[in-house]
Amino acid sequence: MPIAMPFQLVLHNATCLLPWGKTQTDIGIAEGKIAAFGQLAQAPTAEVFDAKGLHILPGLIDSHVHWREPGGTHKEDMASGSAQAALGGVTSVFEMPNTSPPTTTPALLAQKLSLAKGRCWVDHAFFLGACADNISSLSEWERLPGCAGIKLFLGSSTGSLLLNETSLLSKLLQSCRRRIACHCEDENRLAQRKAFAQTEKPETHPLWRDETCAILATQKLLELAKTSGARLHILHLSTQEELALLQKARAFATAEVTPQHLLLSAPECYAHLGTLAQINPPLRAPQHAQALWHALHTGLIDCLATDHAPHTREEKAKPYPQSPSGMPGLYTLLPLMLHQVAQGKLLLEQLVELTAHGPARVFGTRCKGRIALGYDADLVLVDLEKKQNVNTSHTRCGWNAFDGHTLQGWPVATLLRGHWVAREGKLVGHPEGRPIEFDDTRQAL
Ligand code: DOR
Ligand code: ZN
Repeated sequence: MPIAMPFQLVLHNATCLLPWGKTQTDIGIAEGKIAAFGQLAQAPTAEVFDAKGLHILPGLIDSHVHWREPGGTHKEDMASGSAQAALGGVTSVFEMPNTSPPTTTPALLAQKLSLAKGRCWVDHAFFLGACADNISSLSEWERLPGCAGIKLFLGSSTGSLLLNETSLLSKLLQSCRRRIACHCEDENRLAQRKAFAQTEKPETHPLWRDETCAILATQKLLELAKTSGARLHILHLSTQEELALLQKARAFATAEVTPQHLLLSAPECYAHLGTLAQINPPLRAPQHAQALWHALHTGLIDCLATDHAPHTREEKAKPYPQSPSGMPGLYTLLPLMLHQVAQGKLLLEQLVELTAHGPARVFGTRCKGRIALGYDADLVLVDLEKKQNVNTSHTRCGWNAFDGHTLQGWPVATLLRGHWVAREGKLVGHPEGRPIEFDDTRQAL
């Protein structure tokens, strides 16, 4: 029975991806929340949208994004980065702390939250970076409003954040109770092997930062977490061997893969893309990508996230290894994965699990990532038949590893808490993104 209340919007005639699967139902939205399901054609509403032929998914939660503000706004900023999110059907973003300065104190977290206010097109939360100086305060700071948790770099990547000394790691893992997001590459081995990175040969990137770098770091961290009570989230898995380690640690560890580690592999990626394919941890031989696909299909992976890490073309054109590591991905996450659905490599239900239900469960977001009564009306309408070329010339960094690829399956409109933020590839309305709330950050009013 439809509730007798005026809706702000009724989405009519679509196939909705409810938590238990595809369902034909209208969705009534009131006060930014999902307020009713059923036949709502006659219900009083300010607006009706006929979504015939479209599928409605929970707005995506991208739990791994680098927006570069403050300090790197020539690459991206919160306005340009969040615009890519809204256009790509991503309604919640967790942003990483390796900005300049790195986000390592409550004041710097507050600065990010204030920079986002009125400029951000999607809801957002910011990670605090772990470093030797702030370790004793993180168990308190990790619960600050707007904080997504703690990000730990075991090996150095872009920026200066690093924490690899065992005693400090133990201290962190013993004291922090929110899930810790971990970049696993072993710093000592990275330093020992630097000579493997040959000038102007980006194909040597996976030799320098080899499989063992990733495996050692993941192994060390999982071992430390076994007894410390910590909960870990292993970011951007890149090797077959780490999957076996993860399988034994599921009681306290969740994991992420990126589309690029699934879809690109060596040596082709370096031959075709050069330094544009240079990321940390590196793109590797095809057997690793195959193992990641298998893990995805067997429940070992909780989240698909982009590791959106834009650098300018000029920066990427520097001779390897002076070229920075990272590639953008916010705008292409959904179409790339919908294309896999069209190819029969992934079910739409699995896509929703990995981009909405999974990150919501792993990080404990409040009222996000699920099409259910009382939840935020963060929704993306997708056309599974639409074919379009990837074109990122309008983005700040101006390139994408998948530029020119024809993909089948595109977002056509995005709603953030019941308001349209993107329609037919254009931003609409105003940037009204708000800080995301988590079970662990709930405060008394
Ligand atoms: O390739 C990467 N780029 N890996 C990281 O860990 C950081 C990121 C960046 O911020 O550029
Ligand atoms: Zn990252």
